[in-house]
Amino acid sequence: MARLAAVLLLVSSARLASAASAQVFAPPSRGPLVQTANYTSFSNSTLNDKHKTKGKAFNRFIQVWLENTDFATAASTPVFESLAEQGILLTNSMAVTHPSEPNYVAAIGGDFFGMHDDNMYHVPSNISTVVDLLEERGVTWATYQENMPTTSFYGFDYHAKNYISPGSADYPYYVRKHNPLMIYDAISQDPKRVKRIRTFNDFANDVVNDAHDTTIDFAASFLEYWLLPLLTDPRVNDGETLIMVTFDEAETYSQQNRIASILLGGAIPLKLRGTEDDTLYTHYSSLSTVQNNWGLKSLGRGDTNSDLNNVFSFVAVKTGHKNTRIPADKVPQFNLTGVAPGALTSALFQPFPAPNLHATGAGGRGVLVRPGLDKTLTPDKLPAPVNLLNLNKTTPWQMSPRTGSGGAIIPCANSACA
Ligand SMILES: *[C@@H]1O[C@H](CO)[C@@H](O)[C@H](O)[C@H]1NC(C)=O
Ligand SMILES: *[C@@H]1O[C@H](CO)[C@@H](O)[C@H](O)[C@H]1NC(C)=O
Ligand SMILES: *[C@@H]1O[C@H](CO)[C@@H](O)[C@H](O)[C@H]1NC(C)=O
Ligand SMILES: *[C@@H]1O[C@H](CO)[C@@H](O)[C@H](O)[C@H]1NC(C)=O
Ligand SMILES: *[C@@H]1O[C@H](CO)[C@@H](O)[C@H](O)[C@H]1NC(C)=O
Repeated sequence: MARLAAVLLLVSSARLASAASAQVFAPPSRGPLVQTANYTSFSNSTLNDKHKTKGKAFNRFIQVWLENTDFATAASTPVFESLAEQGILLTNSMAVTHPSEPNYVAAIGGDFFGMHDDNMYHVPSNISTVVDLLEERGVTWATYQENMPTTSFYGFDYHAKNYISPGSADYPYYVRKHNPLMIYDAISQDPKRVKRIRTFNDFANDVVNDAHDTTIDFAASFLEYWLLPLLTDPRVNDGETLIMVTFDEAETYSQQNRIASILLGGAIPLKLRGTEDDTLYTHYSSLSTVQNNWGLKSLGRGDTNSDLNNVFSFVAVKTGHKNTRIPADKVPQFNLTGVAPGALTSALFQPFPAPNLHATGAGGRGVLVRPGLDKTLTPDKLPAPVNLLNLNKTTPWQMSPRTGSGGAIIPCANSACA
């Protein structure tokens, strides 16, 4: 961990009960850095990273993702209030759509490609992600998924012993929809990269939660158990670390998709601790912020859309980057469920387009192009969306959860795949 520069997502996939029958948090281990049998298998490898690329405002970026919670609910919880006192509360931070999976996919790839459900998909290897951008500059990275049973696990979900209610049936703690790095073939089908999709026991080993279907109290207790000790551990939070605690989406679809995000860590200037920032941010902002910080290329998607890609202000001030001020009445409704066309929806199917190759991102450099990309298939050249369901077909990028585990890509063959 000491030499890891970007921890892309730390996600706890605890899905323990519906809010109506919410269970009380029980610590899975004696501490965040102690491996536990509650996480199925123990770590048997560590990352051995050598390089550390100096950033302009931070040298390590850790994103902690929690699930489905409205801004007001999260922000009024004592542990969030106390975290906000130590950092910067982002009061205008938006998820990009509903439900969960497209938000995770967007945070890594700058688009959700029309996805409007939580089905099992994969994205072809010519589509770039933040991993390409980081590696191009020698910035090391990993992702850690709570309750994922083994490093590099490819399956749709995983049922494990219910350690919160012993005696109850096994519970599907881990779900792939919260693990976007596994969804992109450019990462999951690359033997070197896939080893960086790691478990929470690996996290404990490398150093040095997601509250879906649980109440905010569960997420709060998780943060107290897990994040608070790490914030004071210099192996994780050194003077140059930026930590973002955020949610994938708001819970209430009928309201704006505003989420509570807090920036924490040693990289936050002292005078900004305990303040609020009302700049409009989205899940694309973390992409443009790392581009700005490390001088990365861009993806030419949402990360270069100036209405959606503001860089975290304290970073922009340091680098001289100019953000866009968007008047409150011009802020879009971040709910594109069933509306956005793309390759990951059967109802409004279009092929994957090439990115905007003329875009300049916050890193001030060009757009990264992966092998196999058809650069001529620009968004304006895409055919009109087709409803494949009318033809009893699904998008070719949908997979069968029943057979899609174990490592090999098994494309969905028929309409029964969902
Ligand atoms: C697993 O979690 C339960 C519930 O918190 C706890 O009582 C138990 O000690 C944990 N087991 C291990 C090996 O840490
Ligand atoms: C430990 O290593 C074996 C063999 O490489 C692998 O199959 C297993 O998944 C690893 N354990 C974990 C927790 O990843
Ligand atoms: C968001 O989209 C869903 C599904 O299309 C719809 O039911 C809901 O009313 C929408 N909410 C808003 C605020 O547009
Ligand atoms: C990306 O690759 C897929 C799979 O080979 C192909 O179907 C698609 O046309 C390609 N798209 C672009 C924009 O290159
Ligand atoms: C799609 O499947 C339904 C039910 O199996 C069938 O009635 C219908 O004719 C099929 N439509 C097409 C276009 O094949």
